[in-house]
Amino acid sequence: MKISVIGMGYAGVVTAACLSELGHEVIGYDIDSQRINSLNSFNPQIFEPGLDKLIEKNCNLKRLTFQHIDDSDLNLGEISIITVGTPSDPNGSPNLEYIWKSVEWTTKHLKDNAVLLMRSTVQPGTGDLIESKFCEHQSINYISCPEFLREGEAVKDFFTPDRIIIGGNNSKAVEKVVQMHSGIDSPIIKTKIITAEMIKFASNAFLATKISFINEMAAFCEAWSADVDDVKDGLGLDHRIGKSFLNAGVGFGGSCVPKETRAFTSLASNYGFKSHLLSSVLEVNENQSQIPVRIIQKIFPDMNNVRVGILGMSFKPNTDDIRESPSIKIAQTLSSLGCQVSCFDPISNQKSAEKLGTSVKFETSINNLSQNKNVILLMTPWDSILNTDWEHIYDSMSEPKILFDGRNSLNPETIKNIGFNYVGVGRGISSSDLDSIII
Ligand code: UGA
Repeated sequence: MKISVIGMGYAGVVTAACLSELGHEVIGYDIDSQRINSLNSFNPQIFEPGLDKLIEKNCNLKRLTFQHIDDSDLNLGEISIITVGTPSDPNGSPNLEYIWKSVEWTTKHLKDNAVLLMRSTVQPGTGDLIESKFCEHQSINYISCPEFLREGEAVKDFFTPDRIIIGGNNSKAVEKVVQMHSGIDSPIIKTKIITAEMIKFASNAFLATKISFINEMAAFCEAWSADVDDVKDGLGLDHRIGKSFLNAGVGFGGSCVPKETRAFTSLASNYGFKSHLLSSVLEVNENQSQIPVRIIQKIFPDMNNVRVGILGMSFKPNTDDIRESPSIKIAQTLSSLGCQVSCFDPISNQKSAEKLGTSVKFETSINNLSQNKNVILLMTPWDSILNTDWEHIYDSMSEPKILFDGRNSLNPETIKNIGFNYVGVGRGISSSDLDSIII
């Protein structure tokens, strides 16, 4: 099948590369010629395990090419997939400027009976609007087929999805999109366009809810000296609940989960109601990222010049994405409160430095970061961070040698035996434990 993908951001590049791996002939389009050149040299400019190899292989097989949108030699094929970004407006509602521009451009160049497939996350109702405004009079068939790709695992998620959602009004077009996925073993749900859009939003909102739920339970555990990880296991073994997305920590970040949860709350107000549940989910999350501040404030009544090292800047491991990363928020807050903040990330030091400016320092290794620090905040559990030599880190730090484990990724007993003052999230270290180390 000949397929075009419009917008070579994160979802676009992964989608284009994976579709070509399925054997389709794919052209990826973008307005950024530097990005196109880089993709044609097999460099996706994003850190995503396995993606560069997939691009190289399929470009060499001539199944995958990248073109600037202004190229005269356009060939959008039978299916054109929109994967442009949908940033948020300041009030949290989605900004669809790029969607409108790309849909206008694509429908102008698509042939009759072709499929316009929306893979970007758009608010429910957008597809019906696009269909009536741009597609019906041109015999173009509109399909909503949202992506469910996790950063860091996107290639795997593409080939082994939990489900494929296809929303559309034309059964032939729906079947064409089913065919596009042949080779992938997955349940397929065929539904209305608006329902497909809703499924995508609801999925991310539910994941956000699970995380804020366990984080609230972690606060109870903290108060009662219970252990949230055991609570998670006990809860998760109930198959109606399940274990995944029940890891307590410093909260959810990234470019999608927070943005789409916020979008729901702002869209609800457009329809005259309040999303009480999701507003609370966001409130819990905001609070969660500030836990290290409360701990440091409690131990050091004077925060000026407390030396803090932050380990991990991306919003989760295996990605260089720092959008809405709790590490960025915490670095900003702590440095504004007078702490001396240093950071280290295996991949996103440069991006983080561009974002944070000169208010914080960046180190090129974990060992450099730990030198003379009073407090280490483990925020992103990269393998290389978890497998570091913690005894060496301990020796290089200054008193009171606090290790805050923001993702409950370390074994508390092992770490405490080294000598650290270990604090996790909801792991039963109540504030009275901290009293003994107040400076
Ligand atoms: C998310 C969804 O998981 C994908 O299904 C979806 O397709 C994608 O958004 C999207 O809309 O494009 P992603 O942004 O890569 O994927 O991030 P997640 O893996 O969902 O993690 C989000 C945040 O939640 C991270 O900061 C992570 O550390 C945090 N998290 C995750 C927890 O705090 N606890 C958990 O148990 C799980």
